[in-house]
Amino acid sequence: MEKIKVWAHRGASGYAPENTLAAFKKAIEMDADGIELDVQMTKDGRLVIIHDETVDRVSDGKGWVKDFTYEELSELNVNKKFPEFGKVTIPTLEEVYSLIKDTGLTVNVELKNSIIFYKDLEERVMELTRKMGLEKRIIYSSFNHFSIMKIKELDPGAETGFLYEYGFLDMPEYASKYHVDALHPALYNLQYPNFMEDCKNRGIKLRVWTVNDVEDMIMLCENRLNAMITNYPDIGRKVVNDCVKRGQFN
Ligand code: G3P
Ligand code: MG
Repeated sequence: MEKIKVWAHRGASGYAPENTLAAFKKAIEMDADGIELDVQMTKDGRLVIIHDETVDRVSDGKGWVKDFTYEELSELNVNKKFPEFGKVTIPTLEEVYSLIKDTGLTVNVELKNSIIFYKDLEERVMELTRKMGLEKRIIYSSFNHFSIMKIKELDPGAETGFLYEYGFLDMPEYASKYHVDALHPALYNLQYPNFMEDCKNRGIKLRVWTVNDVEDMIMLCENRLNAMITNYPDIGRKVVNDCVKRGQFN
């Protein structure tokens, strides 16, 4: 039985500004198996890592990511929460790929294109993945399932997952129908009767977000799920190590 993976949500965002190189470095230090990040596109077509469609929440600027050139965007400080890190700038996907290239980490690239339909986002991301030789290390997800189908069309071998938040019917059946490898549900979806079992029987992996409490992490381990996406990868790592000691994954 394979151990559950610990993925750092927006990097180790409990300890460093989310979706920044500082947060991704922390995730590496904390022995995460992977990182999750959100990719969007600037006005001049650069792939940048940021969660919201606007810069307002995380930076000292205002406006839509799509309306900034990369140069304009890189002047912003995307650190509002962790004064000890000083000024932090927005990373590009290429910078993150370079950072993890020589590690064993997986990257869960979440395409943030449910509201703004960035032109050729899928092609651009996959082109970079290919250029850097990282095809086997990247897992694509999106709340925009059209986008995931496009990823599969561009590379039928790409690993994919449908993201969703809550309240949908028949998600395991839906995932099987569209031949995605995984579902990436919000944590509360695990409460639906037979949901985890149904996914297991169909060979659909479950990678769950955002799992920050130890009790929930233990529950995921006990149910043999595939990944916990957490802001606290150090806590996740400890929980998984303890499960290993208890013989959980034998
Ligand atoms: O990919 C898991 C999770 O990041 C999805 O939600 O809003 O944090 O991007 P969000
Ligand atoms: Mg995300």
